[in-house]
Amino acid sequence: MSEHTWTPSSWHALPAAQQPDWPDPADLDRVLKYVASLPPLVFAGEARNLTDQLARAARGEAFLLQAGDCAESFDEFSADSIRDKLKIILQMAVVLTYSAGVPIVKVGRIAGQFAKPRSSPTETIDGVELPSFRGHLVNAPGFTAAARTPDPERLLAAYHQSAATLNLLRAFTQGGFADLGRVHQWNREFVASSPAGQRYNEVAAGIDRALRFMAACGVDTESDPQLHQADLWTSHEALVLGYEEALTRQDSLTGEWYDCSAHMLWIGERTRQLDGAHMEFLSGVGNPIGCKLGPTATPEEALAICEKLNPGRVPGRLTLVIRMGADTITEGLRPILRAVTDAGHPVVWACDPMHGNTFTSESGHKTRHLEDILAEIGGFFDAHRAEGTWPGGVHIELTGGDVTECLGGSSEVLSGHLDTRYETVCDPRLNGRQSLDLAFRVAELLPKR
Ligand code: PEP
Ligand code: CO
Repeated sequence: MSEHTWTPSSWHALPAAQQPDWPDPADLDRVLKYVASLPPLVFAGEARNLTDQLARAARGEAFLLQAGDCAESFDEFSADSIRDKLKIILQMAVVLTYSAGVPIVKVGRIAGQFAKPRSSPTETIDGVELPSFRGHLVNAPGFTAAARTPDPERLLAAYHQSAATLNLLRAFTQGGFADLGRVHQWNREFVASSPAGQRYNEVAAGIDRALRFMAACGVDTESDPQLHQADLWTSHEALVLGYEEALTRQDSLTGEWYDCSAHMLWIGERTRQLDGAHMEFLSGVGNPIGCKLGPTATPEEALAICEKLNPGRVPGRLTLVIRMGADTITEGLRPILRAVTDAGHPVVWACDPMHGNTFTSESGHKTRHLEDILAEIGGFFDAHRAEGTWPGGVHIELTGGDVTECLGGSSEVLSGHLDTRYETVCDPRLNGRQSLDLAFRVAELLPKR
């Protein structure tokens, strides 16, 4: 192993789980060569800046909010849907900043989150067996042979949709949409219209006072770029490795390789095999990297992942995203926190309270309950408190719209409502109001710095 040299294609020699069965390898090759000739979506220097921000979250000086769609869709692609998602993430970030007393590092599951791992490679309905839907990067959700056949042209469509999404995000975040005063006004409107308004009012009133204090001191949100602009970094699961390789470029400043499809990439629960292709590929790119850890993860595995992905122990390089389920989190996480901390690995600890709390409702919908999601976050904080480590962030599936995919929230979604606007192309997402409920509730749980 020690003689092994990493290259953007060295993963080819290893088993790669969850890859599509492309029907025509020559056609795939043609598209990948073309993608490799296109401009990168992000710049290596940006990825390094995000590593620096995440290093603060590893040290307890910042908190990560990673959020967005389970799977972005080619069909639900519009300025409004991008704006609404950004708006919710900004609103959540203001509440969390005030409560945590540290900067919030905002990372979207956006502008490239198009590929999904599946528990089974095929799906059978009424005796008909077809390939599973693997995200719009690969095939279409409809249950026909044509829809489910992987189509390499989708890689190109995903590239272009990512570029357009990123362009609008950059415009909004730098152009005044993210102004702190304006974002707080949106939160005020949410609190005023929420059945839980009383409960949330304390935090909202605290932010009012802080803003008035700043204004009295002569700080103007409109003229101060720190308060008028925001950074929203992009991220997705690096699943379809051919696509990621095609966007991997050598940085002209440092000579290092970066996967320029997004600022941050992560390895999913189903592809984190230590000797697998996904670990190999991401071990060699300079971006900040995440790795999911589910309920079966052991302290030994967690340590081996740290050694593989961050042998240089660079703070901010590695985020471990824990997704164990509300029942297992506190006991499951503590030995992992201890092993990784004792070994001196500086990781960002993030809680994904979504993927361990999915169940099927009586109505037959795949769903999650906001109270289970909050219980897992509470358990995550408890484990960190017990071990004396910093709970570095949360990883949430949400959308800005008024969907009915998850249960609960102060404007309660009940089992009988799920069918009304169940629009996700993959996992159930919190709607805009449930996402803000989550931010205000997490604000109550957050350890104060
Ligand atoms: C996801 O983040 O959508 C996902 C599939 O998660 P996991 O790999 O943790 O199951
Ligand atoms: Co998901």
